[in-house]
Amino acid sequence: MLLVAGPASQYIAEKMAPLLNLELMKVESKTFPDGESYIRFPKSVEGEDLVVVQGSHPPQDRHLIQAFLIAHNARELGARSVKLVAPYLAYARQDKRFLEGEAVSILTVLSLLRASGYDSVYTVNIHSPWIAEESPIRLVNVKAEGALAAHLLEAGLEKPLIVSVGKKGEDMASSVARVLGADYTFARSMRDRETGVVRVELGEVSADTALVVDDIISTGGTMVEVVKALKSRGVRRVYAACIHALLVDGAAKKILDAGAERIIASDTIPNDYMEFTVAGVLAEALSK
Ligand code: R5P
Repeated sequence: MLLVAGPASQYIAEKMAPLLNLELMKVESKTFPDGESYIRFPKSVEGEDLVVVQGSHPPQDRHLIQAFLIAHNARELGARSVKLVAPYLAYARQDKRFLEGEAVSILTVLSLLRASGYDSVYTVNIHSPWIAEESPIRLVNVKAEGALAAHLLEAGLEKPLIVSVGKKGEDMASSVARVLGADYTFARSMRDRETGVVRVELGEVSADTALVVDDIISTGGTMVEVVKALKSRGVRRVYAACIHALLVDGAAKKILDAGAERIIASDTIPNDYMEFTVAGVLAEALSK
């Protein structure tokens, strides 16, 4: 078996290689002057079982095209099997037709991954885990909340009030609370589909320190509103934690300006706030 580091995720493939005890092959890549992507394998993959590590964080479309090129090239060059590890899988939030006529983009992405030559896709805390049932390709959702909780314990953040975001985030946040032996409450966020404005409703809050756990921070709009709501209830210190830190449009500054003391993120997406790695949980899932 050969671990293949795609251009988007070399840093994480490098952490996984020793855990899996696998040789690492770094894909060579460049962008042509007209914007097209180029990839090359520096060694033969004939007869090999490949595990390709290539996330699809921004620039999502470029990273997806690179993922397609890698699988198709691998198959043409005689690879026996090709798995994709996408620590962050793009388009997972467009998992249904919210408005009439919209594309269910995640199903398109999964179909194209299959068509390009992958046998299966491993990803971390996918926004829409139920999509596995409809997925045209085997989809393995690896949960990283255990790694987050272990990191929080190690960081000495033992018992802040844990706050979930949205109905879908309740399982994740309550499992972090269990590991920490901490209290737990919820924040329900509602986003207006047309205007993008987020409204927040909080459960019971009586704490000095709170840690908000969300699967993803993108524009930061949701986290900002939750942080403000907690502050307005008298919480003195608020930490903002997530698995996927997209942090677009100055999100980090907005969250810190809203009063959060610290942003805590994993390394599924390269970012300035990554404090813990998902390499271990991915390696474990692949070893099963
Ligand atoms: C919503 O369901 C998610 O859990 C996140 O809260 C949301 O996607 C974050 O997006 P943004 O940072 O743009 O508010």
